[in-house]
Amino acid sequence: MKSTKGRNVVVVGAQWGDEGKGKLVDWLSAQAQGVVRFQGGHNAGHTLVINGVKTALHLIPSGIMHPGVKCYIGNGVVLSAAKLFEEIEGLERADVEVRSRLRVSEGCPLILPFHAALDVAREAALERGGTEKIGTTGRGIGPAYEDKIARRALRVQDLKYPERFAAKLRTLLALHNHMLTTFLGSRDFEFGDALKPYMRDGEVLFEPVYAQAMRHAEQLRPMIADVSCELNEAHAHGANLLFEGAQGTLLDIDHGTYPYVTSSNCVAGNAAAGSGVGPGMLHYVLGIAKAYCTRVGGGPFPTELDWQTPGTPGYHMSTVGVEKGVTTGRSRRCGWFDAALLKRSAQVNGLNGLCITKLDVLDGLPQLSLCVGYLLDGERVDLLPVGADEIARCEPIYEQMPGWAESTVGVTRYESLPVNAQRYLERIAQVTDVPVAIVSTSPDREHTIVLHNPYAAAAD
Ligand code: GDP
Ligand code: IMO
Ligand code: MG
Repeated sequence: MKSTKGRNVVVVGAQWGDEGKGKLVDWLSAQAQGVVRFQGGHNAGHTLVINGVKTALHLIPSGIMHPGVKCYIGNGVVLSAAKLFEEIEGLERADVEVRSRLRVSEGCPLILPFHAALDVAREAALERGGTEKIGTTGRGIGPAYEDKIARRALRVQDLKYPERFAAKLRTLLALHNHMLTTFLGSRDFEFGDALKPYMRDGEVLFEPVYAQAMRHAEQLRPMIADVSCELNEAHAHGANLLFEGAQGTLLDIDHGTYPYVTSSNCVAGNAAAGSGVGPGMLHYVLGIAKAYCTRVGGGPFPTELDWQTPGTPGYHMSTVGVEKGVTTGRSRRCGWFDAALLKRSAQVNGLNGLCITKLDVLDGLPQLSLCVGYLLDGERVDLLPVGADEIARCEPIYEQMPGWAESTVGVTRYESLPVNAQRYLERIAQVTDVPVAIVSTSPDREHTIVLHNPYAAAAD
């Protein structure tokens, strides 16, 4: 008997973020009725290009450009209501209706101005102390997750009870202002313009934070939902759901290059916990990886190249790939594809298929290096080790492969790719032991090669 239940796909970044998840989530959304964010916050920056028009999203799921699709922000996301409304208003100016299609979990911890203040002051303190900075996005993500884990966070549902909200806020401010002024030297710190209205003498003020939260409470009320319940119901009624990961596997708090990571689990398993569905509801995990590697912020990167010297392959990746962050505008570090890292990603996510993006960026490079393992303290290892210290000591072992001179920009059929590009993709699949399901050949939604469609049930 044919099941009436829907089929659900999880999209995760398989490297250090910015792999092109937004483009793929937008593309896959044509086959889904609901798209769900389950972790991270507005540290994410996802770019969609539809008929040449670019949209950057930070919090709103990348399914929003499909009019019939519902979008959900699950309990695993840390939510800045200020950034959410900024984004909603931006989309509305472009005639995209959002409010009737967006559901926000009442379990989301709120990001408030003191989280961003702590984030930037802490990074500055690391720098002053001579320790390498994490290189965070400065959005308050880490401090907001700390409050969640310490069981003191203000959550979306607290917005419904102003008096209780005020009392909790006063307690949080007392704690965090003490940290800011006593340990982080905030009185002598120059905070950016966005934080200035909320601060005096290095402390975050109660009144403006409370007043803003209450304004947002009004606006948010119609969108607040029991997302877990709605997703389970949608699934039971046959809806296909798409779970959109933010960041990437090597930025995962447990499995990434700790401590140079973000503060949430970015791996596929968290799609269940971060949205309130059972793991049995996740049918297919698609890992997105660039045809090379990039990373923003600090931390080890075994296959990193010199990406600043003209004429080098790293410079080619950086410039042809336009490797600048969507959220902070920082340059992304660039390097060769790391198949030993991808093996770790495949393992911790249970990848069913890979989507290789930005293949076109490698056009014109005469020779490609593919990392297939490392020398670690003189021993060969085939899998990326765990944690920053050992990863920093990994010396990549490369296989050389011939590149291709032809342009692959906009190619939509696998057979039309140059033979050497096909060989490169096949070697990646072989070393990682994960089939290549999709290849992306430009930022545009339509420029996508499909070898296996994740929504086709035969993949199970
Ligand atoms: P995300 O965070 O994973 O959603 O990725 P970002 O949007 O931060 O960064 C990926 C960048 O690569 C964006 O500027 C995309 O428009 C662009 N992009 C995605 N796929 C392709 C591709 O196949 N080729 C090229 N040249 N650019 C791509
Ligand atoms: P998307 O979803 C790339 C990086 C930051 C920093 C580290 C911790 O667009 O792929 P945080 O602000 O999260 O505490 O910073 O994580 N980082 C990202 N890098 N893409 C992202 O998101 C990122 N989100 C966070 O640069 O190194
Ligand atoms: Mg990004």
